[in-house]
Amino acid sequence: MSEAINSLITEQLDALLHGETNLVANLANASALLKQTLDDVNWAGFYLYQPATDDLILGPFQGNVACVHIENNRGVCGTALATQTVQRVADVHKFAGHIACDSASNSEVVVPLILANGEPLGVMDIDSPSLDRFSAEDQAVLEEFAHVLLKHVDKQ
Ligand code: SME
Repeated sequence: MSEAINSLITEQLDALLHGETNLVANLANASALLKQTLDDVNWAGFYLYQPATDDLILGPFQGNVACVHIENNRGVCGTALATQTVQRVADVHKFAGHIACDSASNSEVVVPLILANGEPLGVMDIDSPSLDRFSAEDQAVLEEFAHVLLKHVDKQ
């Protein structure tokens, strides 16, 4: 059994990003915080939306090397982007169109990052080698984490 995600991580993020609004720096530290804090996670990071090409490009992350481009509405990340809804996938192998960047991943959560003006910034993707790693309670903490992160982004 994996440990539940403790909501303390959102307070740690708020303190870590205090006084800094640089997007790359903040996403880099947010991915490091997720990876070093969460139990049973093999990849944590960000894909950023590119309006010119209507796709996602790899951003700061911690974990194995990953796919660089993801089309809008493709895979778990592209679905989170297109639908602007959190995707909590218990078994990625059963998700139609799942993109297997790291063969170790078996479950994942992808949270869309939407700016105050309604424009998508990108998505936050967290993968686990365990099936059904993320509970509804874990998802709620990660949504709050994304909310805190967006407060510290200078595109807002
Ligand atoms: N599995 C994701 C692709 C990104 S990697 O897992 C880092 C997807 O289907 O969108």
